[in-house]
Amino acid sequence: MSLSFITLETKENFSQDLIIQKPPSGISLQGVIQIPGDKSISHRALILGSIAYGETEIQGLLLGEDPYSTASCFQAMGAKISELNTISVRIKGIGLGNLREPVDVLNAGNSGTTLRLILGLLASHSDKFFTVTGDTSLRARPMSRVIQPLQQMGAEIWGRGENSLAPLAVRGKSLTSICYHSPIASAQVKSCILLASLMTEGKTIVTEPALSRDHSERMLKAFGAELTVDPEARSVTLNGRTRLYGQKVIVPGDISSAAFWLVAGSIVPGSDILIKNVGVNPTRTGVLEALEMMEAKITRENEREVGEEPVADLRVFHSHLKGCVIAGDMIPRLIDEIPVLAVAAVFAKGKTVIKDAYELRVKESDRIMVMVKELKQMGAKITELDDGMEITGGIPLRGADLDSYTDHRITMSLAVAALNAKGRTTIHRAEATNISYPDFVSTLQQVVIQ
Ligand code: S3P
Repeated sequence: MSLSFITLETKENFSQDLIIQKPPSGISLQGVIQIPGDKSISHRALILGSIAYGETEIQGLLLGEDPYSTASCFQAMGAKISELNTISVRIKGIGLGNLREPVDVLNAGNSGTTLRLILGLLASHSDKFFTVTGDTSLRARPMSRVIQPLQQMGAEIWGRGENSLAPLAVRGKSLTSICYHSPIASAQVKSCILLASLMTEGKTIVTEPALSRDHSERMLKAFGAELTVDPEARSVTLNGRTRLYGQKVIVPGDISSAAFWLVAGSIVPGSDILIKNVGVNPTRTGVLEALEMMEAKITRENEREVGEEPVADLRVFHSHLKGCVIAGDMIPRLIDEIPVLAVAAVFAKGKTVIKDAYELRVKESDRIMVMVKELKQMGAKITELDDGMEITGGIPLRGADLDSYTDHRITMSLAVAALNAKGRTTIHRAEATNISYPDFVSTLQQVVIQ
């Protein structure tokens, strides 16, 4: 059902305004939601399927702009990928080391995962030349975090900002294995080095200061890589010169997309939402722990393993949230959910402190600056910290004229805030949701009950 108080207006320049005006009679959120496929797992399935021998079948792929960027890069390098849909995507892999030199610049669009992960592969493809770029946001994001370790392996990469910003040029080489202690807990850094080491003689070891998402490790193992994980040492070892073989991958729903409903259901009175088929890999469930600390009412049902990943249905009821501290080792396990957790904090009783999250400043937008600025416009009491934010909850929000900064997670977080604000909220450049959740607005229209 399309509701007149939630509308998406397309403007002449094709940018979209999301307008939300809660009716005076109030709303609640009710129903059963199927969320789109996990973005991180979708990228990895497309990448490994492309470089494996034989056929890979992917079910439940995220049909968002980010995975499209990954698919188009690999198509340009010779992988045969069928039309993308959620039922079944088939890839005829070209085999490790066989990426074709593309005739044009590869375009990673808005996707940091695409750019950082493929750099490891491009750098290790001997004697081939690649150029790769992205949109305005991606061209401003730091790439030295992957370029430096790749250079230690012998890679040749050039770019702006002393070889740290896209567009980047890569001359592929035979690389040497390394033991790399990453200064940041980043799955993109870890995965880039692991992909680079696939064709490298000997053992490559990556350690990280806190555990980041481990989808690459799980999927590489399933595709046949010789890989061992030591969770206590937070290290992964990959034995190079390996072969990968095509697999069937079932992509679970994305907990980062479920997070919008978990928070919306928690803050809007009378809500009761069942979110089906959510990936609950422990390296991703920080958002559930944070909401539990805030005394949210969320239950896990029907817990099961689907392929390499744990999955559950999540049910959320309205509750009276309390402030909490979100910091330390849990940050990498909820990094993408911090914008919407800030919204939860605005409606929670007392103070919430989010710290140790400097990484948020180098995402699709500076998510600390943007969330503080936009929530302040709605009347929230929120202060910017260098590595996070401090929020005093319980102050009613008012509708406002807001901007997404073309960041998908900012758009959806602000939409959740608008559900509980008085008056009209307009979020400009709301088409950003297409990156990870193209059906977000239509799902919102379905679950909101007047
Ligand atoms: C991702 C890792 C995280 C996350 C991003 C997706 C991945 O980034 O924020 O949305 O798929 O590996 P970092 O590795 O930079 O922390």
